[in-house]
Amino acid sequence: MSSEAEQVVYVNGTFVPKSEAKISVFDQGFIFGDGIFETLVAVNGYVFMLDAHLDRLYRSARAVRINVPQPREGLAKLILETVGRNKLKDAYVKVIVTRGVGAKPLLGRGDVTRQTLVIFAVPPVSVVSEEKIKNGAKIISSTIKRTHPDSLDPRIKSLNYLPNMLIRLEAIEAGADEAISYGFDGFVSEGGAENIWIVKDGVLMTPAHGVLEGITRMAVAEIGQGLGHKVLFTTFGKYDVYQADEVFLCSTAGGIIPVTEVDSRRVGSGEPGPITKAVTEKYREMLQKGIHGTAVPA
Ligand SMILES: Cc1ncc(COP(=O)(O)O)c(C=O)c1O
Repeated sequence: MSSEAEQVVYVNGTFVPKSEAKISVFDQGFIFGDGIFETLVAVNGYVFMLDAHLDRLYRSARAVRINVPQPREGLAKLILETVGRNKLKDAYVKVIVTRGVGAKPLLGRGDVTRQTLVIFAVPPVSVVSEEKIKNGAKIISSTIKRTHPDSLDPRIKSLNYLPNMLIRLEAIEAGADEAISYGFDGFVSEGGAENIWIVKDGVLMTPAHGVLEGITRMAVAEIGQGLGHKVLFTTFGKYDVYQADEVFLCSTAGGIIPVTEVDSRRVGSGEPGPITKAVTEKYREMLQKGIHGTAVPA
């Protein structure tokens, strides 16, 4: 792992030391949250599901009409190079694209000529403690609705994370680890920054609509099927979460987070369930072995 001093960040065409990695205060990403991003991980020298992340980034870009200032192949190389240059085998990686710096700090004059591209790779971060991963986390229902698809489709991984931040803060204030939000249709959507899964009678279920199309969720679906379980992308409500045998959250940054309490109701036996444990084991193995991984060049 590299020392702080050696860390470099890619900013608009060049790798610069971390302390010099800056963007303009007039950047629309900063002023308006006018941008998109991806969070990836590298484990044991492999970037996990790079293609799926690139697919999602370009889908988000198309949806919000931001031009990613790199062709796909070039961006893939830059992501790998960022991890490689920082000499990290395990890393937390972010790719951020904003609409750029406008001629005037006004909303949407369409006169932005150059998009901003930032890529950084830092040592892994943990979303919840190891203790919670082992014994289970506590979640609550948020009062904040997931953004309406007619306003900002949750499939877009945009820089507009204020609702998500408020969801997370609500959880913290309630002494919980995370909160789950609901769509305007009343059905469960997802956590502040994780997808949710429930397990009932051996069937794994995750909301099909109104959520970010999580990359870890895709991996979980593959693993669940591989373990011989039925996997459903479906619709369910709060009641179903309360009746679930097992509940877990999943994300790139957090991995698989078992949930043992929802809205003061114990989930199953009150301990992480057997299917959650089996999925976690396979997921870790997938990461460690570089399955769906792209090797970081030395
Ligand atoms: C709102 C939201 N949902 C779900 C996820 C999980 O997605 P992924 O597995 O691609 O990290 C994230 C990740 O940050 C997120 O922000």
